[in-house]
Amino acid sequence: MEEKIGLILNEALDAIYKADTDIALIEARNKYLSKKSELMGLFGQMKDVPSDKKAVYGQLINDARSKIDSALMQKKVKFDQEALQKRFIAEKIDISLPASSEDPGVRNPYYIIRDEMVAIFLALGYEVAEGPEVESDHYNFELLNIPKDHPARDMQDTFYIDPATLLRTHTSPVQARSMEKAQGTPIRMICPGKVYRRDDDDATHSHQFAQVEGLLIDKNINLGHLQATLSLFVRKLFGEKREIRLRSSYFPFTEPSVEVDVSCAECGGKGCSMCKGSGWIEILGAGMVHPNVLRMSGYDPDVWSGFAFGVGIERVAMLRYGIDDIRRFYQNDIRFIKQFMKG
Ligand code: PHE
Repeated sequence: MEEKIGLILNEALDAIYKADTDIALIEARNKYLSKKSELMGLFGQMKDVPSDKKAVYGQLINDARSKIDSALMQKKVKFDQEALQKRFIAEKIDISLPASSEDPGVRNPYYIIRDEMVAIFLALGYEVAEGPEVESDHYNFELLNIPKDHPARDMQDTFYIDPATLLRTHTSPVQARSMEKAQGTPIRMICPGKVYRRDDDDATHSHQFAQVEGLLIDKNINLGHLQATLSLFVRKLFGEKREIRLRSSYFPFTEPSVEVDVSCAECGGKGCSMCKGSGWIEILGAGMVHPNVLRMSGYDPDVWSGFAFGVGIERVAMLRYGIDDIRRFYQNDIRFIKQFMKG
């Protein structure tokens, strides 16, 4: 009997080892462990076993049964795990999504130049001032020595909100506002900002553009200070070799008034297409603050003097980068802006 049990056990373990499907395992369980199996049949034969051996054989049969049972269980667990693994692979879902590509922003050359200009004057101790774009006639014209009937108004025709309110035609009203605020004390201010003029847009004209205004008021200020300040400004912007030239001009709010030219960077002053053969390029208007302007804003012209200037931001950017059309600043064409990636 002992031998028989051993044989059944080996055969069963071998069958389980070879089983390669769940069904084969169920069949093996039926064959080796069901009530009708050969092994269980051995219990029926116990009556023929001598009583002193009954316990030993009973034990052997039970051992064989539990060994077969645990082999079946192990194999079943192995099959279940393999099946699960197969499902994981078969049902795998790709939950990753390609990231949306994000182009890093690039600064419009307008801002690059504006910030450069501001930085130059901050380093000279100037403060940044602000004023409204919707301005009153009073600040935009009257306080700048441009009374109602003054012909200079025609040159700065603009968009009126009502007869006394308009979109500012220049940043110069911030001069008057700064003087009003400083109440007779020294001033060093710059004001970058948008201005508006009724103009037909073309490559060099825009009904909206931007200026940086500058104003310095103190005692004993003369044209030499203006010249030195603007010369430094121009060299920082366009290069150390640049010269400036002051040409006599006219603005109602400065006396004397000048147009400031910079020597052409392209030809170094010899004359080329960039400077239209003259060797010089006009970049800004400036002058000594007119006594009337000082007086109207509370500064005694016998005590105080000062200079002011106004420079177009787009114009400087166009010269610096060789931009051919002022409209490019506002068109938001990414191909244009991207050229300033490293700017
Ligand atoms: N406001 C003048 C313009 O817009 C420029 C300017 C500013 C001239 C300050 C003199 C002094 O043309």
